[in-house]
Amino acid sequence: MKAWDVIVIGAGAAGLMCAAEAGKRGRRVLLLDHGKRIGRKIIMSGGGRCNFTNYFIEPSAFLCENPHFVKSALARYTQWDFIALVEKHGIAYHEKTLGQLFCDDSAQNIVDMLIKECETAGVTIKLRSNIDSVDQLGAGFSVTTNDDQYSCQSLVVASGGLSMPKIGASAFGYKLAEQFGLKVLPTRAGLVPFTLQPEDKATLEPLAGVSLPVVAESEDGTRFSENLLFTHRGVSGPAVLQISSYWQAGEPVRFELLPAGRLAQGISDHPNQELKTWLGHQLPKRLVEALLAREEWTRANITNKPLKQYVPKEVAVIEQLLSAWPLKPGGTEGYRTAEVTLGGVDTDELSSKTMMAKKVPNLYFIGEVVDVTGWLGGYNFQWSWSAGWSAGQVV
Ligand code: FDA
Repeated sequence: MKAWDVIVIGAGAAGLMCAAEAGKRGRRVLLLDHGKRIGRKIIMSGGGRCNFTNYFIEPSAFLCENPHFVKSALARYTQWDFIALVEKHGIAYHEKTLGQLFCDDSAQNIVDMLIKECETAGVTIKLRSNIDSVDQLGAGFSVTTNDDQYSCQSLVVASGGLSMPKIGASAFGYKLAEQFGLKVLPTRAGLVPFTLQPEDKATLEPLAGVSLPVVAESEDGTRFSENLLFTHRGVSGPAVLQISSYWQAGEPVRFELLPAGRLAQGISDHPNQELKTWLGHQLPKRLVEALLAREEWTRANITNKPLKQYVPKEVAVIEQLLSAWPLKPGGTEGYRTAEVTLGGVDTDELSSKTMMAKKVPNLYFIGEVVDVTGWLGGYNFQWSWSAGWSAGQVV
């Protein structure tokens, strides 16, 4: 059995960061992954440019059963620390929008940077390693793979969530946590497009390709000002991806297509314009056609006529339909297209400073496998860098 100080399982964002940091401290580190390539999610992230962090990282941008859990790691290794690392490696980057930082060139720059950090720190990376079993061995662990057996003092699980099974996602980390008696919170897809209810398909499917700025709101009052995109399968775009993480099956989502008060302004500015014409100047024309044909409009008896002819009660109804358009999704596209997995290893089981399991000394969980999910926009990578760095200081 080959002996290592530290074994990290998962050569993704969190695992690479942790392995490099532990290696820098002189620890002998083995990084195992069952895939053929290092950092596959990083490579495909951000449309191939990797949205690697965000200027505005703050704990409130993370979903977690215990919202305080993320504070320590995010404060110990911040977005500014990661930006400094990116700059040290001479990687050109830019802010796209809302503080989101992307590589100018390619997401591969970030993977190459992390590999270089690991190499400099003497980390051994072994790909195509399927983990057959993990057992406690004294104060450490034994790890048996398809072609070898290892022992280690510290074991770090960085195997990610369930999204994108095609590129190596697995339930390994959750099963390992359960094997060691740790609680795992139910998982579901996050940052994911919605599918439509059968009754919405006739009016909304023809809108594929239409995009517009909206405010999306979930039942719990969470709101995101971003773009909504209609697709062949349902609705997507950043507004939908963001709100999907706050959505529970069966609930409606509300979209502010036009702010309240805009119609009242329209009536005063263009009293003789018909509703449909006026709306066509405010919203994409195809969307206006589809909205007026929908059941909620016919049920409310809203017919097309000059704006000045609407009585105050009708104006209130129209404003409500436009400022809080309710859509009940059929479901989500699931892990096939989700960017992240909500839920995971319960943070009550872990030290927020080191990520070590409270009940199992020397066993660590970092990154997406933990019940921490960030907003769209570089927040999820920052969590992986921060959690990986924090564990890397102590393993
Ligand atoms: P990650 O999934 O990166 O790595 C886990 C590793 O473990 C993988 O290499 C996998 O092969 C390995 N593994 C799994 N099971 C194993 C097993 N049984 N044995 C051995 N190895 C195993 N976030 C962001 O902040 N900005 C962005 O631009 C994007 N963009 C984006 C696009 C797409 C398409 C997706 C799917 C996701 C994003 N994300 C993102 C989210 C981001 O990719 C995600 O939060 C991090 O990659 C999580 O890092 P981890 O290291 O925890 O897991």
